[in-house]
Amino acid sequence: MNVVLGISGGIAAYKAPDLVRRLRERGADVQIVTTASAEEFVTSTALQAVSGRPIRSNLWDKEAEAAMSHIELARWADVVLIAPATAEVMARIVSGGAPDLLTTICLATEAPIALAPAMNHVMWSNQATQANRDVLEKRGIHILGPGIGSQACGETGAGRMLEPDAIAAAVFSLTGAQIDGLLKGRKVVITAGPTREAIDPVRYITNRSSGKMGYAIASAAAAQGADVVLISGPVNLAEPPGIEVIKVESAQQMYEATHNVIRDADIFIAAAAVADYRPASVVAQKIKKKDEAMRLELVRCPDILASVAALPTAPFTVGFAAETDKVIEYARGKLEKKKLDLIIANRVGDNCGFDRDDNTATALWQNGEQSFPTCSKSDLARELIELVAQHFYAVRSADT
Ligand code: PMT
Repeated sequence: MNVVLGISGGIAAYKAPDLVRRLRERGADVQIVTTASAEEFVTSTALQAVSGRPIRSNLWDKEAEAAMSHIELARWADVVLIAPATAEVMARIVSGGAPDLLTTICLATEAPIALAPAMNHVMWSNQATQANRDVLEKRGIHILGPGIGSQACGETGAGRMLEPDAIAAAVFSLTGAQIDGLLKGRKVVITAGPTREAIDPVRYITNRSSGKMGYAIASAAAAQGADVVLISGPVNLAEPPGIEVIKVESAQQMYEATHNVIRDADIFIAAAAVADYRPASVVAQKIKKKDEAMRLELVRCPDILASVAALPTAPFTVGFAAETDKVIEYARGKLEKKKLDLIIANRVGDNCGFDRDDNTATALWQNGEQSFPTCSKSDLARELIELVAQHFYAVRSADT
């Protein structure tokens, strides 16, 4: 697949070399086209090294135009991806102007165009940007993200560029190109995020899970060519493009959603922090405060992971263990008790595990284990998916 990757001038441009690697490892040829301001954030030397092609930036570069003109580039592209896409580049595309090489290619191409916006959250929510997003979507341009989270400016909100893995997977999925990855053609069901167990119409019991780990696993599996179904509790994250997302609230709903899709799954990964207990009954009206103390009767929620592992034709089943102490010992206990193929142990508590961009984990299986030092959840997810694929195929070949 031929990708024209447009890079415009935002701080997220520092992720562009990683994005190029993610596209190339899936078999794409990448031709980078930068805007003038992109070069303030990332050097053309780095981009040329990772893409293996000279960078194009100037519409009036006679030598480059003689080799492949802007019109040829526009025809060469199977997809034009702009990542990061600034508010300015979105506005320029909306206006239909062609003041530079990138916008000229956008006008001249018949290939699908995808933008991964990245900007300060106030700029993203500005009426002008939202109106531009609306126009672009109506014209059939794909808008990937943005994600929600902490931003380079120190503020938090919607405007973060999606992770390179998620963008690369989305680009392949929107063009229908098959990713030649480790999990090509495999169905992977993943749970992510917390659950909410209602007490009354206004209150619920929940936990600190943000869904970041599970969403990163979903993107990493899609990046390896899997057909991913992501069953998500309530989270504040953008849906990973190209992935089927089923939204649920409670443990019971997550259980039902899982069993609705699990029948033909090859792999099940339970990254969700599912409630173990829920209120025995949901009070119909808001509970009024009366006494100094009150008791809440709780009953067990269904254990989704154990129920999947116990299916007569269970998929390759991977659990997570979130522990504050005796992490490995407790995780190994869960591996055995729930009859899992693999479990990923991670410590949770102050400054680790929940609601962070990084994580530290140890994968455990019957006769072994492998530790993963602290790294971003997307890097960890990539490594975990490779490990899961390796064990999945080992079990498969032992079964046949
Ligand atoms: O979402 P983040 O903020 O990124 O944080 C990531 C994480 C810490 C939530 C994640 O890495 C993680 O550890 N997920 C599992 C959390 C958990 O519920 O662990 P547990 O040890 O209580 O449960 C063990 C396993 O059983 C888990 O795979 C869980 O999904 C599953 N389970 C638990 C209870 C239940 N009723 N049904 C289940 O399927």
